[in-house]
Amino acid sequence: MNTISSRLLNGVKTLGIVCNQWGDTGKGKFVDYFAAEWADIVARGTGGANAGHTIRVGDFSYAFHLVPSGMLHDKLNIIGSGVAVEPGTVLEELAALEQAKVSPDKLRISLNAHLVLPQHVVLDRVREAGNKDGAIGTTGRGMGPVFADHVARVGLVMNDLLNPDIFLRKLRQNLEEKVRILRTYDPEIVRQVMHQKILGDGMFYYPGDSNIFDVDAIAERYLAYGKMLRPFVADTDAILREALGKKRILLEGAQGNLLSVDYGTYPYVTSSDCSIQGLAKGVGIRERDVDLVLAIVKAFYMTRVGEGPFPTELGGEASARGCRNSTRALEAERYPNASLNDPNELVRGVAIRQVGQEYGATTGRPRRTGWLDLPLLRYSCAVTGSSNIILTKLDVMDGMEMFKVCAAYEYRGPDYIRGDRTFRTGDRLEVAVPDLEVMKHCVPRYVEFSGWKGPIRRARTLDELPRDLRGAITYLEAWAGVNVTLISVGPDREETIFVRPPR
Ligand code: IMP
Repeated sequence: MNTISSRLLNGVKTLGIVCNQWGDTGKGKFVDYFAAEWADIVARGTGGANAGHTIRVGDFSYAFHLVPSGMLHDKLNIIGSGVAVEPGTVLEELAALEQAKVSPDKLRISLNAHLVLPQHVVLDRVREAGNKDGAIGTTGRGMGPVFADHVARVGLVMNDLLNPDIFLRKLRQNLEEKVRILRTYDPEIVRQVMHQKILGDGMFYYPGDSNIFDVDAIAERYLAYGKMLRPFVADTDAILREALGKKRILLEGAQGNLLSVDYGTYPYVTSSDCSIQGLAKGVGIRERDVDLVLAIVKAFYMTRVGEGPFPTELGGEASARGCRNSTRALEAERYPNASLNDPNELVRGVAIRQVGQEYGATTGRPRRTGWLDLPLLRYSCAVTGSSNIILTKLDVMDGMEMFKVCAAYEYRGPDYIRGDRTFRTGDRLEVAVPDLEVMKHCVPRYVEFSGWKGPIRRARTLDELPRDLRGAITYLEAWAGVNVTLISVGPDREETIFVRPPR
C-alpha cells in the first residue's frame, strides 16, 4: 500500500468519498487513486449517467458515466441498487474498456437498480424544454423521471430484463401513464426530442397516432441488452453485506451534497441523495458501516452546473445567463484572453473556467464559477457528519493576485418564516439554509486574501506551498471547522500533498 493510503486509511475497511459542494470537484482523481492503491471493491450507489469523469491510462482516455473507476484496476466493481442504469451506456463503456484490454468480468450490477428507459429521457427533456422559466438545467439523462417511478412504485429494474414476459408487462403499464403525460406537451417538441441521438434518432418513436412509443422496438432493444448484461446482474446488496469488515470497500459518490434531493438546494438538485447517507443506502449497507468519509472540496473557487442559487457567483446573473447559452468553443472565441486578474469579475470567472477546464463531462456545458462559500461548506459538513476534507484544484488559481472567501451571508429580503425561525433583513448567517426563499436573498460577506504566484504543482509538502496560500488554508480550517487531510495541486496522482490524518 502506498504511503498516503496507509497514513490516511489506517484501520479503515469501508471508505466513502463524497463531494461537499455541487459536484465536479475532482472526486474522480481520488476514487481512482484509492481504487488503485487500496480497495478490493469499488461501489457506486447514487446518480446515473448524469455523472461523468474522464479516465486516462497511458494513451487510453474515455469519459465514463456509469462503470466505477475500479474497472481499470482489476477490482470487483459494483453498480448498486441506488444507481439509475442505462444498459446501453454500460455496454458502450465495457466495449471501450475492452479496447484498453480491460476485462468486463469484475463488474456486478444490482438486480434492483432501476432502469432508465426511453420514456424517462423523453420526459426529462420535454419537461425542461417546455418549462424555460422553471427549468432545472438537468443533464437530460432521465434522472428525475426514473427516480420518480421508483418512489411511485411503477419502475422497472435490471432483473426485469432477464424475464421477458415480466419486462413487457411492466413496460406497457409504465408507458401507458407516460404517454398520457406526454400528450399534454407540444407534440412537435416530443417528436423532436424522440429523434435526438440519445434516443436512437427516432428508433423508439411511433408516428401516426398518439401512442408516441414503439413498444416492440423498446422491448427488442432492451431485452437484447438483458441478454448481454445477464452475466453481470447480481444481488450486490448481499455481496457488500457479506464483504463488510472483511474486504476494503470504496464507496464512490456521484454529484455532491448540495445537489442531494434530500439535503441540497431543492428544487435545483438531482433526484438521488448524493450524501453519504444516500450512498451507503444505495449500495445496500448502513451509514454506520462506513468507517471514514472523505469529502472533496474545491478551493478557492466553486462551480455549479445548471440552474439554482449560487450567492458567490462571479458575475452574478450575467454569468448564469452566459453559461446557460454558451459552449466551450463560443466562450473561447468571445474571451480569447480572459485573465485571472481582469478587473471585471465576470471575466475572472470565465478565466477560472478556462484554466480549470470547468466544462461538463456529460453535457459539455460551461460550469458557473464563484468564490468559495463557507456557509454552504459548514452546512454540507454538517450533513456529511464529517469534516475530513480533501482540497482540490488549488493550482487553478496560480497567478491570481487576490481572491475572496465568503465568510457569512447577510439576509436581505422580506420577512420569511421557516419553522421556528423568522428571517429578517440584516440577519447574519454563518451556516447556509438550503431553502430557496432564504438562499435567493443571501448576500455574501467576503474576506479578501492575497493570491500566490505559483506554480504550485510541484509542491509535495505543505511547507512547499506559498505562505499566502497556507494562510488561506489555515483560515478555511479554522472558520469552516474542517480538517484538511490531503491537498491536490494537479490532476496527476503524484500531485497530492498529505497534510494530516483524519480526526
Ligand atoms: P439531473 O441530475 O440530470 O436531473 O440534473 C439536475 C441538476 O443536477 C442539474 O443542475 C445538473 O446540472 C446537476 N448535475 C447532475 N449531475 C451532475 C454532475 O455530475 N456534476 C454537476 N452537476 C450535476
